[in-house]
Amino acid sequence: MAPAAGAAPSPEPAAVPAAAAWGAARSLANEHARIAVRRLVADYDGGAEAVRRIAAELLDPGDEDEIVTTGHGRFVTRVTDRPAAPAACAPPEPGGYALHVRRPGPAYDLVWRPAPTPAPPGPGEVSVEIRAAGLNYRDVLQAQAVLPPQPGADSSREHPVGYECAGIVTAVGEQVTSFAPGDRVCALSRGALRSHLTVDARAVCRVPDGMDLTAAATVPLAFLTAQYGLGHVARLSRGQTVLVHAAAGGVGLAAVRYAQRVGARVIATAGTEHKRNLLRLLGVDLVADSRTLDFAEQVLEATGGRGVDVVLNSLSGEAVTRSLELLKPGGHFVELGKRDLAANERLLLGPFQRALTFCAVDLNEMLLEDPDRAGHHVGRLAEGIASGALQPVPHWVRPAAEAAEAFRLLQHSHHIGKLVVTFDEPPPLTPYPAQHAPDPEGTYLVTGGLGGFGAATACWLAERGARHLALVGRRGEQTPGAPEMLRELRGRGVRVTAYAADAADIEAMRAVFEDADRHGHPVRGVVHAAMHLDDAPLADLTDARLAAVFAPKVGGALVLDELTRGRRLDLFVLYSSAAALIGNPHQAPYSGANVALESLARARRRRGEAALVVQWGGIDEAGYVARLELTGMLESKGMGLLTPREAHARLGRLLTEPAQVVAVGRMTWEALRSFCPAADSPRLGLVLAPAQDVAGHSDGDLRRQLAVLAPQEARELALRALTELAATVLQTVPERVPMERPLGDLGMDSLMAAELAVLVQRHFDCEIPAIEAIANPTLTGLADLVLRQQSARSAAGSLPAQQTGPRQAAAPSARP
Ligand SMILES: NC(=O)c1ccc[n+]([C@@H]2O[C@H](COP(=O)([O-])OP(=O)(O)OC[C@H]3O[C@@H](n4cnc5c(N)ncnc54)[C@H](OP(=O)(O)O)[C@@H]3O)[C@@H](O)[C@H]2O)c1
Repeated sequence: MAPAAGAAPSPEPAAVPAAAAWGAARSLANEHARIAVRRLVADYDGGAEAVRRIAAELLDPGDEDEIVTTGHGRFVTRVTDRPAAPAACAPPEPGGYALHVRRPGPAYDLVWRPAPTPAPPGPGEVSVEIRAAGLNYRDVLQAQAVLPPQPGADSSREHPVGYECAGIVTAVGEQVTSFAPGDRVCALSRGALRSHLTVDARAVCRVPDGMDLTAAATVPLAFLTAQYGLGHVARLSRGQTVLVHAAAGGVGLAAVRYAQRVGARVIATAGTEHKRNLLRLLGVDLVADSRTLDFAEQVLEATGGRGVDVVLNSLSGEAVTRSLELLKPGGHFVELGKRDLAANERLLLGPFQRALTFCAVDLNEMLLEDPDRAGHHVGRLAEGIASGALQPVPHWVRPAAEAAEAFRLLQHSHHIGKLVVTFDEPPPLTPYPAQHAPDPEGTYLVTGGLGGFGAATACWLAERGARHLALVGRRGEQTPGAPEMLRELRGRGVRVTAYAADAADIEAMRAVFEDADRHGHPVRGVVHAAMHLDDAPLADLTDARLAAVFAPKVGGALVLDELTRGRRLDLFVLYSSAAALIGNPHQAPYSGANVALESLARARRRRGEAALVVQWGGIDEAGYVARLELTGMLESKGMGLLTPREAHARLGRLLTEPAQVVAVGRMTWEALRSFCPAADSPRLGLVLAPAQDVAGHSDGDLRRQLAVLAPQEARELALRALTELAATVLQTVPERVPMERPLGDLGMDSLMAAELAVLVQRHFDCEIPAIEAIANPTLTGLADLVLRQQSARSAAGSLPAQQTGPRQAAAPSARP
């Protein structure tokens, strides 16, 4: 219990030391699973009424673990998600717009951003006003960050999407003779999900009058891939047999048509009965289920044991091996899938004794690397479109405003053929957020600015226009890496001064401010990044060790607060850490010191002074985490890293918003449960989905049960739970998930595998790399893995066999 702390936004005045205790207690709660650690702020001036309220909280504690009780009422704390940028939607701008993936990763989101009017086309180029764009599975994989992004990512890691489109030519460059303004065309180009595009004329085809542009957007990649893969690579010919996997998708349907046109016999697979029925209607000889391996036997039976001449593949895992085995001597395996290639999966060479050919097809790569060769194949595609031989595939249409919905449909493969986004109505646009611009006449002071993330911040301020920098660290110019950085900044014309000073020493810091005044460039902004870490359980720490962590952070911040009183500042930024938000175990003083900064910032804001606390997640490339190579460990705890560039892009925007205390990071909140026993407090309830029961048990309960049950019973329980989790991911019922069948064969792709890995980690506190969920073939195999890890932990003593407390035992610490 403490006087009003400022650790939470409340109407009461802040008290920095109390806030420090509040923050340290967050870590304590995660260090001691069996002790319910609650933070209660009481308004001591509230008299008897306050005492009554405090007594009520103590006598009848609920779930809340952070409570502020004041004369104004009872307040509890909540961490809320906030949009990455101002959510304001602007009317469409005349320049046009482009779809961007914001926050690429499992929880990606899509925004339409204003895009500048394209420059006039250069020689050999064509400008197109786009009316419709086809989606490809690759777009989703890039949005999910399973595949690397397209070039063109901006500093906040947003990147464009789209590979094909159809529209009207608005201008042509020199040397372009085959197109003229007004022509209806379809085209292949990266970043095609946009309103206007300038593209190499070699990647453009004319669209005949009878074909509408929405339908035309389904043609380029599907037919080019079918024509190139089956015709050019596999030389499929009359009388041969081809096996087309996942044949109800855009490329699959184009391939079926191509093969039928050349007179080949077509065997196909698809994932649902609905899709298989469609393929039967299209005259496919034999249609099998792509989610089981039974297709292999069926193909052999249907071909009298001879197998097929060509396989067009987009499946992964065991299905690849089985399909290779189906090839006749001299047969061709044409790989369209990207997943196994990206994951560097292995392929056994035995089948290749039959002189087989394995060829991966990636036309987007060819368009980039060898546009002449690609142009040749696009020319043949254009002929097919012009002659009417190539007709659009079935498609589902979504307006641009519903692009996110279209991505979701594609991701779950519920559709048949292609998904097309149309541009009849301009979508609502999300403007690029504004960035803070430093005053070129002011000095910007960065503590901890001679090394690590602080030094990266100094460079960013210079990039943004700061011309005078004062960088403070105890080692001054002797800080490793500082001389090179100073030289580079000075080379760019920045007047930068390195001070060997302790940020908590008020006289040394006063001298820094006075120096800036003397030069006629008074301090206009402060970034306080100095820190010292000393990680250990709170009970192991001495006063001296605690003080060493608190001094630079809190002592430094109080000094800066004091010395900036009455000065006109445009920024006063205190670097904090997500560790403080979460309460990382073994980082109590660090959490405490950072929460104390919040209290100070709130006090400043109440006085009308600038203040912003940023609780950073892990930072890559610069600073403590990168230096100590802790990136992998942090990522395994659900704390994805930001590069300094990404972090600063976000900071630049935050400085234009009324933000006071904001966490910025790439968090997988669910992963907190694996190392923070207090993660399920209501405080994090708005960002952390409620723990899901599995096999009739909550996650903590499940782990306890597994630890106490006899081996056979534990195995049965683990299997039941894993089957339920796999069924959730596969969007089916547990009865339809056979335990002995490889997960990859059940249709589990890498995105689903990543989802399963997170669920397994949450419920079993057991780590499986996502890809292993596919390679590790069966649920029984996974159960063995889970139980092995579980018993290793029990043996190491971190999970006592008989546990009676309400939560899982404390897990290892994570750092800033
Ligand atoms: N790196 C991350 O992943 C991460 C994540 C979350 C938050 N943060 C925050 O970002 C800030 C910078 O972290 P970092 O990773 O860059 O740390 P770092 O690499 O360890 O750098 C800390 C800097 O602070 C200086 N410093 C320490 N005590 C000082 C004092 N008393 N007076 C003046 N300078 C002092 C150090 O220089 P001397 O030793 O020469 O004084 C050093 O240059 C910290 O506030 C941290 O909480 C970082």
